[in-house]
Amino acid sequence: MNRRNFIIFLGAIAGTQAIAACKTQVTSGSSLPKALPVHFKPVPGPLPLMTDTVAEAIATFEVTDDLLLPEGYEYDILGSWGDKLGASRFGYNNDYLAFVETAPNEGYLSINFEYISAGTWLQTHEAVTGKKLPLEVVTKALSTQKDGLDAYSLKDSDPLKQQINAICREAMIDQGLGIISLRKTANGKWERTFSKNDRRVTGISGLDDNNHLRCTGPAKTVFRKTSGLGYIDKLGDKIIGTFGNCAGGLTPWGTVLSAEENIQVQVPDAVHADGTSFEPKAMTFAIGDEELSGQGNVFGLCGNKYGWIVEIDPANPADYGTKHSWLGRYRHEAVGIRVVTGKPLAFYSGCDRRGGHIYKFVSKDAVKNPKDKANSKLMENGMLYAAKINADGTGEWIALESKTAINPQKPSDLVGGMINLPDRPKGGYRPVKDDSEVAKYKQQYKTLGDLYQGSPEEKQGAILIDAHYAANACGATCTARPEDTEIAPDGSLYIAFTSGSPSKSDGSPDKTVFKGPKGETPYEYGFVMHLIEDKNDPAAKTFTWKMMALGGDPATGGAGFSNPDNLMLDPKGNLWIVTDVSSDKMNKPSKDDQRGIFGNNTLWFMPTLGENAGQAYRFAIAPMEAELTGPFLTPDQSTLFLSIQHPGETHGQRKDMKTKTETFNLTANGKTFDQTRQIPVGSNFPERKPNSVPNPRSWPSVKRAARSSRDKPSAP
Ligand code: FEO
Ligand code: CA
Ligand code: CA
Repeated sequence: MNRRNFIIFLGAIAGTQAIAACKTQVTSGSSLPKALPVHFKPVPGPLPLMTDTVAEAIATFEVTDDLLLPEGYEYDILGSWGDKLGASRFGYNNDYLAFVETAPNEGYLSINFEYISAGTWLQTHEAVTGKKLPLEVVTKALSTQKDGLDAYSLKDSDPLKQQINAICREAMIDQGLGIISLRKTANGKWERTFSKNDRRVTGISGLDDNNHLRCTGPAKTVFRKTSGLGYIDKLGDKIIGTFGNCAGGLTPWGTVLSAEENIQVQVPDAVHADGTSFEPKAMTFAIGDEELSGQGNVFGLCGNKYGWIVEIDPANPADYGTKHSWLGRYRHEAVGIRVVTGKPLAFYSGCDRRGGHIYKFVSKDAVKNPKDKANSKLMENGMLYAAKINADGTGEWIALESKTAINPQKPSDLVGGMINLPDRPKGGYRPVKDDSEVAKYKQQYKTLGDLYQGSPEEKQGAILIDAHYAANACGATCTARPEDTEIAPDGSLYIAFTSGSPSKSDGSPDKTVFKGPKGETPYEYGFVMHLIEDKNDPAAKTFTWKMMALGGDPATGGAGFSNPDNLMLDPKGNLWIVTDVSSDKMNKPSKDDQRGIFGNNTLWFMPTLGENAGQAYRFAIAPMEAELTGPFLTPDQSTLFLSIQHPGETHGQRKDMKTKTETFNLTANGKTFDQTRQIPVGSNFPERKPNSVPNPRSWPSVKRAARSSRDKPSAP
């Protein structure tokens, strides 16, 4: 048995976020039950599992506000929001982590800072940064603007514009990505070494300095346009910042890919037929309960420059990131990287929105040496495909190029009965709800080239910029919020789909593919799909797939978890799965919604081979109202880095150890029983002292602006 110590990087003083890691030390001794095919004793949870040695009624259960690990494992903290990082600070809501080894027990850790949780961030910002935000005056100005405020159109001399600028600047600094250097000391602890390569790329890198991001591929020709149908920022192919950085991937040549996900909350998502953006006023600034939205508005950020995959070389201090447009623009969750000598590169990524697609980029040229940094150039030419997933377990890749035929999915095949299609000549997209309207659309437009404008290169750029809506138009399968896409040691692909429920504004999954154990649709609790390319060829145009596991209660055919999110595959091909049950649904009894029964979010171990393939074993439980993200195992498997995002997301600070009691009706061995569950209200993680909070100042009681009809983000 391996004994592991965990090291945790702490995200915020009140436990807003954290990163954890574990290191293995081999030691002897184990008291594991023989029946368990795993090397750890699963952490007890509230729900009886098929993988429990004895599945029995759990009459009482106490939920704990901590990161719970199997016996013999412990965690440690490595860093936190506000800590010095290069010339800036450690950002907020950590997500993807990648460790790039430069020598034994030494290397760079990249960290994604995904978004800010508006309420907690505003409440704690001053205590952490020492800067006071002009929040009250801005909140007052917003109270009369029900659709938010177009700060971009205000005069630069207007104090309100300057005040909004000050708030958005601070918010954007806390997003993006960071590179830190680490070393494992003789006593086995990891520590920061503060190398000259430590740096932050923020949401506004390049705004006031020369640290702008670069781009490659056909969208570059669109960015360089000086006139067009929509908004052009006049910066050409220079890009200010990166934000919404969710998960990512690590290349064999030592660069990190960071996925820009929910950018639609900060800048306009919709574009015109020539790929130019909607005006900044299409996403105004507002402060809501959950979001500080329209953060790009005051800076006049161009929407078409966000929603990409960013590549960064941790070892090059002059590198602030490159957005590779051949990989498409959509709500990228992550990227699965397949590099085979003598074959083209294949990069897989999912668009985390209800009805979002699975994509594959295939490079034109083949890989000669997987470790060669020049492989980055391969991302500059190739083709982007979107997956058509057939109900019979087959599938095909549809090229997103001008000559591809228009052939959208029928709304009646989708759980929510609606699909968004490119709206012409107006630009943007419009919802289509009738099959007959789709038939009419196919009459009107024959190929993708009919929907986009410009020279052949510009048209390709516009298609890549509008990838989601272009993929909708040509029949890519609408899926169930794809989260992580991870390549197994055998080259096959695992995909986590987190939720099969529909959205009124975004779309919904295909009901013939994304259904529950008994064929139920919509099926909220998620899916883990295994996809194998025909002939195991990265450049294959066809594939087969099957569902490896379904989320849900084991009593009704689920694997025991709900809402799978990030995936990790260890060298033996075992899957590690973290879950993202919405914080407001956790530990909440409901007749119609199972999500409350699973307790806090969790990290699971799932063999993919042998008699226990598809069985889920609980490895870790997150603190209250938190999500575990970015699990990353070092190549020697001695260390697991892990982020803990947004503890206390719904109830904030836990006051006076407040606890509530709920009763859940559960099933074990085919018999129902009542469980009395003690649930901490809010979180004191990571300090875990009564009332531990970062900032005694409460959220201002000024009324916040009400929002009307904005695109609601998917839960990040
Ligand atoms: Fe940022 Fe889809 O999770
Ligand atoms: Ca995620
Ligand atoms: Ca998620």
